[in-house]
Amino acid sequence: MAEFSNFPKTTIYIFLLSINLSATFLIFFTRLAASEPVPTTWPLQFHSILYINTSKGVNQVVDLWYDWPNGRNFNIIQKQLGEKLYDLEWNNGTSYYYTLDANKKCTVTHFPVGILRPNFLDGAKYLGKVNRDGFLCNYWEKVDFITYYEDVETKRPVAWNFFSGSRVHVITFEVGKVLDDPNWQAPVYCFGKKKPIIQTESPVLTHLPNLMREFTTTTPLAT
Ligand SMILES: *[C@@H]1O[C@H](CO)[C@@H](O)[C@H](O)[C@H]1NC(C)=O
Ligand SMILES: *[C@@H]1O[C@H](CO)[C@@H](O)[C@H](O)[C@H]1NC(C)=O
Repeated sequence: MAEFSNFPKTTIYIFLLSINLSATFLIFFTRLAASEPVPTTWPLQFHSILYINTSKGVNQVVDLWYDWPNGRNFNIIQKQLGEKLYDLEWNNGTSYYYTLDANKKCTVTHFPVGILRPNFLDGAKYLGKVNRDGFLCNYWEKVDFITYYEDVETKRPVAWNFFSGSRVHVITFEVGKVLDDPNWQAPVYCFGKKKPIIQTESPVLTHLPNLMREFTTTTPLAT
């Protein structure tokens, strides 16, 4: 210690401690970065066929057309031996929820948030690896919103559970597939006298204001 004799002992001690701490943090974060996978950002456009068991135990098959560059997202919902519902969401917050049958039902809702962002899983908590639907998956959780399972090998989504209780299984995942423009036109009876429903209260929205509506609607459509 001869060469440090000019320094008070505590200064040397703090100096050594800080080196030690820096090294510890470096190792910690290096390990963290190396061992914790992050969810793959969603492709900007894709088509998926989803099988969903809703929170009410209703089975439905959904055609999901995600189209971020055009600011739109479409869920075409076929309920088991039941109605076919069209849930068309725009990034400005407006959603059209309608049938295309003789009943001509339509509800227009205005949400304070847009559609899911491609990076909506950023910051999700990594929970490890698990077998889901027969695929080895990494999975993550966003509290009060979603648990999300992604194939370790292909990085494709396999399944997700909404905190509402809906269980979603991804059957197909076609990256880059886009639904033609004419299909994105809500029917004329959506533009009647009824005022849009203003959606403000939702656990999803209050806890995660920057996320979005749960994009696979399970609410029944009033006549
Ligand atoms: C759907 O989920 C419910 C529980 O929420 C379960 O009882 C039922 O068996 C499930 N249906 C199918 C087809 O898996
Ligand atoms: C949002 O965009 C859709 C599609 O262009 C349109 O029909 C709707 O009126 C818009 N909503 C608002 C609040 O501007």
